[in-house]
Amino acid sequence: MASLTITPLTDHTGAEVTGIDFTEPVDGETRARLSAAFAERHVLVMRGQHFTPDQFKVAATIFGELQQHDKREHHVPGHPDVYYVSNDEIVNGKRIIPGESFHTDHSNHPRPPKATMLFAVELPSRGGDTQYVNMHAAYRDLPEATRHRIDGLKAVHVYFSKYSPRSLGHIDEESLRRVPPPGIHPLVRTHPENGRKALYLNPVRMESILGLEDTDALALIDALMQHATQKKYEYRHKWRPGDWVMWDNRSVMHQANADYDMSERRYLYRLMLKGEAPI
Ligand code: SIN
Repeated sequence: MASLTITPLTDHTGAEVTGIDFTEPVDGETRARLSAAFAERHVLVMRGQHFTPDQFKVAATIFGELQQHDKREHHVPGHPDVYYVSNDEIVNGKRIIPGESFHTDHSNHPRPPKATMLFAVELPSRGGDTQYVNMHAAYRDLPEATRHRIDGLKAVHVYFSKYSPRSLGHIDEESLRRVPPPGIHPLVRTHPENGRKALYLNPVRMESILGLEDTDALALIDALMQHATQKKYEYRHKWRPGDWVMWDNRSVMHQANADYDMSERRYLYRLMLKGEAPI
């Protein structure tokens, strides 16, 4: 087998990992290199993998402990703890593309997942990229007065925000009952491993900012989102068969793209890893 190589994909975000078959055991030194790269680069792209759902689960736990998704019913048949995203779901005549605007995952949880990962099972012949934006760099570049204004602010994140820019698709009643109470999180969080501050935003889940009128909160979120989603902060992942991509929800926002032929299927296994309360 070729040896491990880790190659940056932009000057700020993303690294490509080659030379490892993750269906084989991974030694301690390799794990440490991968974890360091993850804290530094925020998105890891592991090329050339071949996973069954069970193998994907085992590989994921190299990086942490699995966290259940809110939509528990959305799992791979026969594998209740391996989830998927696809372009198959149609609600009220409208196709649901999961993740189709910038967000961070499950921020409605008091302890949101530190990481999310996808493994490409079926891909369209073109398009369907995933975009990531670096929230450390976006925070760093804010004017000092803005950083000062937002540093102490906290937002309330709920499952169904009345201000969400998109529909979240169907969730069944049993899953909804198990959704935890809202997460109340700082707008600026410090990453526990790399020590850097990052903007922590999610227009899909944020319903209010404590101490602000909703109109002022929405205007602030909108301005911060416009700033944070500039191309200069982006790594855009173009999927290849066999890609396993893992991202750090504490460092990046991400979004899916619905720019492909919907008669083609896009289907990826999806797992998340437990995180901590943002501070
Ligand atoms: C997601 O938001 O997790 C989905 C991303 C994608 O399908 O590209």
